[in-house]
Amino acid sequence: MMDSNDIVVGLDIGTANVTAVIGEYDTDRGGEPVLKVVGYGDVPSEGIRNGIIINKEAASGCIVQAVEDAVNMSSRDVEEVVCGISGEHVKGMNSIGVVRVDSRRRGEKPEITEQSKQEAMRSAGAIPEVPDRETFFVMPIEYKVNNQGGIKNPIHMYGNRLEVQAHIITASTSAMRNLKNCIDRSEYGIQNMIPITLADCKSVLIPEEEKAGVMIIDIGGGTTEVGVQMNGATYFTGVVPIGGKYVTGDIAAVLKLSMDIAEKIKVNRGACHESLVDAKETIEMPVTSGSFGDRNISRLTVCEIAKARMWEIFSKVKRAVEDAKAMQYVNSGIVLTGGGALLPGASEVAEEVFKIPVRIGNPVGFTVDIEKDGKKIDGEIFANPRFAGAIGLAQLGLDMKIRGQMAKKRPDMGMSSPDDMPADVGDGLFKKMGKWAWNKTKNFVKDF
Ligand SMILES: Nc1ncnc2c1ncn2[C@@H]1O[C@H](COP(=O)(O)OP(=O)(O)OP(=O)(O)O)[C@@H](O)[C@H]1O
Ligand SMILES: [Mg+2]
Repeated sequence: MMDSNDIVVGLDIGTANVTAVIGEYDTDRGGEPVLKVVGYGDVPSEGIRNGIIINKEAASGCIVQAVEDAVNMSSRDVEEVVCGISGEHVKGMNSIGVVRVDSRRRGEKPEITEQSKQEAMRSAGAIPEVPDRETFFVMPIEYKVNNQGGIKNPIHMYGNRLEVQAHIITASTSAMRNLKNCIDRSEYGIQNMIPITLADCKSVLIPEEEKAGVMIIDIGGGTTEVGVQMNGATYFTGVVPIGGKYVTGDIAAVLKLSMDIAEKIKVNRGACHESLVDAKETIEMPVTSGSFGDRNISRLTVCEIAKARMWEIFSKVKRAVEDAKAMQYVNSGIVLTGGGALLPGASEVAEEVFKIPVRIGNPVGFTVDIEKDGKKIDGEIFANPRFAGAIGLAQLGLDMKIRGQMAKKRPDMGMSSPDDMPADVGDGLFKKMGKWAWNKTKNFVKDF
């Protein structure tokens, strides 16, 4: 069991908002590793564009603010955070790694060990040298032992040849360094760094969907992140460099409004599917809109503008997933999350584009125990796709802490301590960023 004073912080550094969620192990839930959210912070982003840090000072200011707000609310001390990796620079692909397995002694049958498994994963993660691009994550899909496929865990099997089919995630070295540097400036340590779509999967998917195969689409402000997941394996990770901010931008450009007014109109009265709008409805302009204050705008016009951009987002996602031949795993449907999913009509437009069932995913599987100004906060505040990333990161952080503690108590679980890894482990990023990067991702690589 986890120490009750272990705290996890999920930190989603987005283009529109930086969101931090502090949680701990909910001991009231018996043995189940359920996250209890005890505080949160949610601040508008500065210095981040399309998931990439463009102004370190401004971005680390937002990180400090979001985490401090959460800390003050929870009255807990925080040392480290689980940080999401997102943005245009993150790319996923499937790769194969192969190793020869030798028997330790002559005459013995070769048995697959944790070491051969790790070697196969490293071989899958080895990509041709491309400037500013490194493998950051290697997640097994399945193993083959002597050409016998469909194996989820090959440890202790006999065979001379181990092959892993893996999903690898590469990222821009400089973007990752800047992200790490920003968190360093905030003086918090990093427990783990995790691609945001995996965090979304953790917080919003129900087990049946995940088992059957599902696509998750996280519509953020600057980018839309996509993942295809089936039965514990990731088959696709991708990013479309358009998000909700572009919907706002179109409304502003077509109707000659400021971005602020367009955003207000979108959030308060917007929709992107005509079935939700009465053709006669008008939107009164906010008083603050200056000389255009007496104008009324047709709600259907706003809807048509928004639909065109949402249609483009989903079409680009569809093309990317089809190109990667990953549509075959999307058996149960599509889950939309992220703040952009709050636009009424988003699921209707996605259904028209993909022609399969679509639902909106709010984070689930956690409890809430927060007091603000002497009053309990209603947990409903987190029933919002905007919190999917931060809550998922905290949930994964908790899972990893529990596994880490179990592994310490039961070394037979096959998890070695980070210090056991050879110094030259992995290629690219691991090598360039040194042991730090490997330590932050290794548990994840091994556990999922
Ligand atoms: N009620 C709402 N209706 C429509 N859109 C909304 C609503 N609330 C938020 N949004 C949109 O959600 C987007 C922000 O979502 P989110 O907070 O998930 O983004 P982010 O994670 O900061 O950005 P990114 O993932 O691109 O880095 C903005 O474009 C905002 O306009
Ligand atoms: Mg986001």
